[in-house]
Amino acid sequence: MSLDLYRTLVRPALFRLDAETAHHGTVQACRLAGHVPILPALADRYLRFTDPCLEVEAAGIRFSNPVGLGAGWDKSGVALRMLDHLGFGFVEIGSVSARPSIGNPKPRLFRLPNDEAIVVNYGLPNDGAEAVRERLRCNPMSTPIGVNVVKTNDGFEAQTCREEDVLNDYRESVSLLHDHASYITLNLSCPNTGDGSDYFSPPDRLRRLLESLADLELQCPVFLKLTPTSDVARLDGWLSAIDPFPFVRGLMLNLPPGKPPAAALQTPHAVWERMPGAVAGRPVQRTLDRCLGELHRRMPPARFILIGSGGIFSASDAYRKIRLGASLVQIYTALVYRGPRVVRQINQGLVELLQRDGLTHLNEAVGTLPPSEWDA
Ligand SMILES: Cc1cc2nc3c(=O)[nH]c(=O)nc-3n(C[C@H](O)[C@H](O)[C@H](O)COP(=O)(O)O)c2cc1C
Repeated sequence: MSLDLYRTLVRPALFRLDAETAHHGTVQACRLAGHVPILPALADRYLRFTDPCLEVEAAGIRFSNPVGLGAGWDKSGVALRMLDHLGFGFVEIGSVSARPSIGNPKPRLFRLPNDEAIVVNYGLPNDGAEAVRERLRCNPMSTPIGVNVVKTNDGFEAQTCREEDVLNDYRESVSLLHDHASYITLNLSCPNTGDGSDYFSPPDRLRRLLESLADLELQCPVFLKLTPTSDVARLDGWLSAIDPFPFVRGLMLNLPPGKPPAAALQTPHAVWERMPGAVAGRPVQRTLDRCLGELHRRMPPARFILIGSGGIFSASDAYRKIRLGASLVQIYTALVYRGPRVVRQINQGLVELLQRDGLTHLNEAVGTLPPSEWDA
């Protein structure tokens, strides 16, 4: 499907549906397409772009290109067959929890087209770790597959949780899923815990979570999806808490909780103030860029890789995250606004940007943006 076809035909049709119906319909279409003979191979031919200068070896995994699908699009791994053929360098499914969850009450997904943004308040609905494990077992992928794990959302009734229950929930999912994944991401946002996004803010609690996984003989590396912050004391606290656990090999940033300042949005305040949830897409780009740069500056570079996300729509957006320190990037909102061809376009554009800057491989660009240019 060409970009124009997506923008002129597919997107207008999808945008006539409410956002969650469109999301669900797209995932199901993708699931079915994976079972149609020839279609996955055709998609691969049309959507994949390869170039040796984009191949990344990180955390012991080989990625054919640095552009991945972010968690939350295929929450329960129902469309794995097709996702293997859309040109991504890696695919992250989830968030998956130990037990199935229906998530938050609807409506819980909204579009802000003037901002190329999505407001998301899904509350982590998914089919649970056992069902996802079975799908992973039955659909081996050639693309590296990450499984994003989170604490089960037990609904509004369950407002408080004992720490022991939270840690056991993660441990159960990780033990079920780690031998079917290329990597596991621990999504450190935690529902049912008051301000869930800050649950693992105390470094000691993060340390206890990692301790509880240390005896699992993990078959794949673990990445952490942290709450974004530029508070250096907080970042340093987390980095020291993680330090004793060599199985943690990657770091990425979650969406900032709440809404960006009104000035950062084109959509009138009266429209988005009624939409619960966090904002994804273009408006969070700069906030997440700054946090990424700060994280890269403070972490031991040989120990972790960074995965950049938040508002990547083009090769130059992706290149900026790479120059801020990311070895890999993930997209989500761009798929909704630009369609699946955006993956190929970003990869193609990255090769041109490397050539423009006289670089022969993507690795040479990682972390090269000086702090004086972070806000430019
Ligand atoms: C509708 C939607 C659902 C999401 N669900 C999850 C999720 O379940 N787990 C998670 O770790 N991130 C989730 N995310 C966050 C994305 O993985 C990604 O980090 C974020 O959207 C930033 O990238 P973007 O600006 O390209 O969308 C979700 C994002 C959106 C838009």
